Formats: sequence, structure tokens, C-alpha cells
Amino acid sequence: MVANGNVIGLVGSPNREGRTNQLVGTALAGASQAGAPIELIQMSDHVVAACKDCLPWVCKENRKCTYEDEAFEFLSQKILNCGALILGTPVYWWDTSGLVKYLILKMFRVYARSAPLQGLPAFGIAIAGGTGNGLVSGLRPLYHFFQTMQMRALEPLPATRFNFDAALKRANELGAKIAEMAQRRDPFKGLEDRLLWYDALSYLNLSRADERRLLADLTVQGLPPHEGAPLALRLARADQLAAAGKRLDALVEITGVYDAGAKAFEGKS
Ligand SMILES: Cc1cc2nc3c(=O)[nH]c(=O)nc-3n(C[C@H](O)[C@H](O)[C@H](O)COP(=O)(O)O)c2cc1C
Repeated sequence: MVANGNVIGLVGSPNREGRTNQLVGTALAGASQAGAPIELIQMSDHVVAACKDCLPWVCKENRKCTYEDEAFEFLSQKILNCGALILGTPVYWWDTSGLVKYLILKMFRVYARSAPLQGLPAFGIAIAGGTGNGLVSGLRPLYHFFQTMQMRALEPLPATRFNFDAALKRANELGAKIAEMAQRRDPFKGLEDRLLWYDALSYLNLSRADERRLLADLTVQGLPPHEGAPLALRLARADQLAAAGKRLDALVEITGVYDAGAKAFEGKS
């Protein structure tokens, strides 16, 4: 399949005007400013049906879902023919949305074995727009998809309401970067090369405790210095506790920082 060079952005939220849309739209604007043709697709217009597990497993040879699924046909052809993929999901219960999950599962079933997306540049955005919990765990299914399909993924973008402006800026930069990569596909030399590439990406290997620390840090960064500075000191104290092996105490302190940071953020917004 020959790539047409379009950078496509999939909005994996049922909310067409929401934060996922803003982030994906801003990433595409970055790609467009860098000279790439772009296309934004609302996944809510193309709702993929659940994989029904065709037996015998013929879809992997036919490269087509055995059952009628216009939405899957549409989205999979867009992905197969694009120059780069930006996939945005809202975080629902620390995970991706169902819109995204059903697409991913069907893509695995039909295309993982033939691997037509080798080297396709991609990156994922997850917006944990409520508490902020799941900002990293919501990204993992996207990166499992990119990795399994052998795409060449850029660093992920975890977004929350606390770092939303910074996340928009980063989305724009990553969009510009992926526009350059869309000129050609760069497949991995082998499985080992691919595993090491994905292991080196930021955020994805954080522990649950470290994910919580990241979230607490983002709430602090979103505050004016006079409010943020005392909380930053508490985070440093939590790090000292963790270094001394007092991991439970450290995490309790981190939660205290998060609670205080989120409350202060709400006060100013
Ligand atoms: C079913 C459901 C589950 C959610 N779970 C989380 C969550 O785990 N963490 C979080 O920060 N926000 C959560 N949210 C809030 C959404 O992430 C937030 O509203 C986000 O802005 C949705 O993206 P959108 O604006 O593009 O629709 C949840 C929302 C819904 C509807």
C-alpha cells in the first residue's frame, strides 16, 4: 500500500467539540504549518462494531472484516493509506474510549499478521479531563496498538485540565515533527529494535505511584509560583521519603499535594 502523505488525526471522543478534538486539531495544525496535507476524522461518525471472532480466522488473509462494517472499512482504509497517524482518546476510567478500543481490536484481528503499517509514523494523545487519573494508563492501549502494528511512534502526550495549555503547545510541536516523518516510512530492523524503541519512549513505563506523582506535579505546575512553590517543596519531601524506602508515606504525601493542587487550580479557573 502506498502512503499518500496525509497526516490524519482521529478524534476518539463522542464529543465533537471537546478537549480531544482541540488537541488533535492543534496537532494537525502543526502538521499543516509544516507543509503536510491533513485530515481530521471524528470517530463518532464511524463507530466500529465489536470484533465477532470469525472462525475460521479468515479476515487475516482476506484483509477485510468478515462481517459488514462500513465504519471499520472506512477507518482502516484511512489508516492504511495515510502518511502519519495522530490518535487522540479521552480517558475513560483510566483507559481509552470504547470508540478507540473497538477500532484497535479489529485492526489487530485483520492486520496484525500481515503488518501493512510497518514504520508508519504515529503518536497518541490521551486527555484525562476529569480528576486527571489515567493520564498515562489511558495512553498505553494506543501505544500497544502502534507497537503491535509495527508503527514508528513518537513520544506520547499525556494531557489533563491542569496542563492543558502546555499540552496544546506540545501537540502542535509533535504535529510539526510528524509531518516531517510522514515523508517516508521507517520500518524497524526487527522485533528487538522495535521493543527497545518503545521501551525508550517517555511515560509509558511509569509505575502507578509514579503516574500519580506526575499528575501531582502537573497540578503544581499549573499554579502561580506563590501557590505552587510550597507544594513543590512537599513533592521534594515525598521524593526523599521514597528514596528512604518509605514508599507508602511518600505516596500519601503525593496525594496530599495533588488534592491541594487540584483545589487551588479549581479556585483560579
Ligand atoms: C465514562 C467516563 C469516564 C471518565 N473517566 C475519567 C478518568 O478516569 N480520568 C479522568 O481524568 N477523567 C475521566 N473522565 C473525564 C474525561 O476524560 C473528560 O471529560 C475529557 O475531557 C473527555 O474528553 P472530551 O472533552 O474530548 O470529550 C471520564 C469521563 C467519562 C464520560
